[in-house]
Amino acid sequence: MSIVIAVDGTAASGKGTLAKRLAQHFGFAHLDSGALYRLTAVAVLEAKGDPANEADAVRGAQTIDFNRAGDPAIRSDTVGKAASHVAAIPAVRNALKDFQQNFLAHPPGGGPGAVMDGRDIGTVICPTATAKLYVDARPEVRARRRWTELKNMGFRRAEQDVLAELNARDAADKTRLVAPLKQAPDADLLDTSDLGIDAAFAAALALVSPKVKDALKDRQRG
Ligand code: C5P
Repeated sequence: MSIVIAVDGTAASGKGTLAKRLAQHFGFAHLDSGALYRLTAVAVLEAKGDPANEADAVRGAQTIDFNRAGDPAIRSDTVGKAASHVAAIPAVRNALKDFQQNFLAHPPGGGPGAVMDGRDIGTVICPTATAKLYVDARPEVRARRRWTELKNMGFRRAEQDVLAELNARDAADKTRLVAPLKQAPDADLLDTSDLGIDAAFAAALALVSPKVKDALKDRQRG
């Protein structure tokens, strides 16, 4: 069994950055599961399909181009919204589930563990994760972060539009019938509203470190 840190939470809560830093800290592999839904959405949009149509969306999930995971174009809000549509379709989630579970079971690079961030990692993809974080922040704070991030990538948007889109996407993610975004009962809540990235990372580390250290010791013994 590999060691798994599940990092779920709302859009622009800081979970992606925290997940990346936790992976670096422990020498674990990292996967941003949101990229899988964004890449599915890109495949659908480029094929002129409808992200809310099951057949189109499943075809998209089957034709993901993993090489584009780092492409800034997949970070746009248009793609984020389409990702939320494809993500509400059970057949799409099923099509992406094996990849994610396989990543966690056999972390690339051969290390002892993996960190995965998303919406359903601690609830559906890996309910037995070693450590689980649920990351959140006040909507206005998240909108400001997202607006800044978009500006730095060359997307110019009105901040109140970014806020409205974040709220709409969170509402859709929380109320969908399949794998809705929610805090797992055994996940630690981390509110990053008033924390800079270094303070948020220190708080995340304080929550997960004891669990990860115990699991590493168990592995050495076993
Ligand atoms: O995290 P990110 O904003 O890139 O995710 C884009 C969308 O993908 C989310 O709004 C959500 O609908 C979907 N998603 C999901 N389950 C995950 C990760 C992302 O449903 N594990």
